[in-house]
Amino acid sequence: MRWKDVARLFHFLGKGGVGKTTSSALQAILLSRKGKTLLVSLDPAHNLGDVLGIELGEEPKEVKENLHAMEPDVTKLMEEYGKSIAKEIESHYKYLKVLNLDKIIRTIEYTPGVEEQVLLETIARLMEMKYDYIVIDHAPTALSVRVLLLPQIMLTWLNHIRELRLQILKRRKLIGAESIEDKVLEILNTEIEKYKALEETFKSIKSSPITIVVNPEEMPCLEAARIRDVLRRFDMPLCGVVINKVIVADSIDPTLLEMKEMQRKWINFIESSFKDYRIVKVPYLVPPPRGVRELEEIAKKYLGEPMCCYG
Ligand SMILES: Nc1ncnc2c1ncn2[C@@H]1O[C@H](COP(=O)(O)OP(=O)(O)OP(=O)(O)O)[C@@H](O)[C@H]1O
Ligand SMILES: [Mg+2]
Repeated sequence: MRWKDVARLFHFLGKGGVGKTTSSALQAILLSRKGKTLLVSLDPAHNLGDVLGIELGEEPKEVKENLHAMEPDVTKLMEEYGKSIAKEIESHYKYLKVLNLDKIIRTIEYTPGVEEQVLLETIARLMEMKYDYIVIDHAPTALSVRVLLLPQIMLTWLNHIRELRLQILKRRKLIGAESIEDKVLEILNTEIEKYKALEETFKSIKSSPITIVVNPEEMPCLEAARIRDVLRRFDMPLCGVVINKVIVADSIDPTLLEMKEMQRKWINFIESSFKDYRIVKVPYLVPPPRGVRELEEIAKKYLGEPMCCYG
């Protein structure tokens, strides 16, 4: 799988409640004017359907011309992953009379890292679907950043394990073992190729750009700066920031004036910390945006062009 042959991915990251789902929807609506677009919620606590005003499910559903949306059942995918690994274990330990498969499945489901793995595999499967653009509405930061870094982390481990396997095979040869095809090495090579393709995709600004969503407040902005640093360290393609829920209304209400003042400070912080990136501001809208038609108006008015769609 090469990024040239698959859909382009757009990721929206940020702290809980800042407007990732809303911004993803705005992006997908704009992209759907350019090509076939899929909008996917990968947050196990979905609210994409609520924002769009459409009931969504595990399969892509038409939202408007050229735009489909879906909410994969992450819990079910984790159960299925647990079962598939348990089956694999069962096939390797056929000689064991007692094997508590249920316990194995439960253990796998709740093992750290499995959720990231399942989400990554879900993204890989989405990329093979026939869309020009896929917009991913992620879960809040900690989980989503780990999903995007997983190919790089897995490659570090897999290359190390491969090295160890090669040493074992070399020693076997020294003691005269016949040189036969090694199944373990074969599996490791396949996995390494898979993660290399994903790493290549995720590191390319053209194929998988990342947008951070913030509100002009202390916590989301500090978190955005931390995400930026992590992404830089791992050479990941950050390309823009959406400053969402900016208070624009004029008022003499002292509380509102104070809030606007505070927001000004954090808008300045984002503008100076993210100088090299596209920054878009979306006002605080009352009532909150709901439904495709309203989102389309907001998208045209405040984004104009989709975030980070190059070439
Ligand atoms: N510009 C805006 N003006 C007013 N309300 C907004 C705006 N953007 C989003 N909201 C509202 O804020 C709430 C959170 O927005 P949204 O669900 O898009 O954020 P999120 O980052 O995806 O949240 P979560 O982390 O829970 O997934 C929703 O009720 C949404 O309608
Ligand atoms: Mg959300």
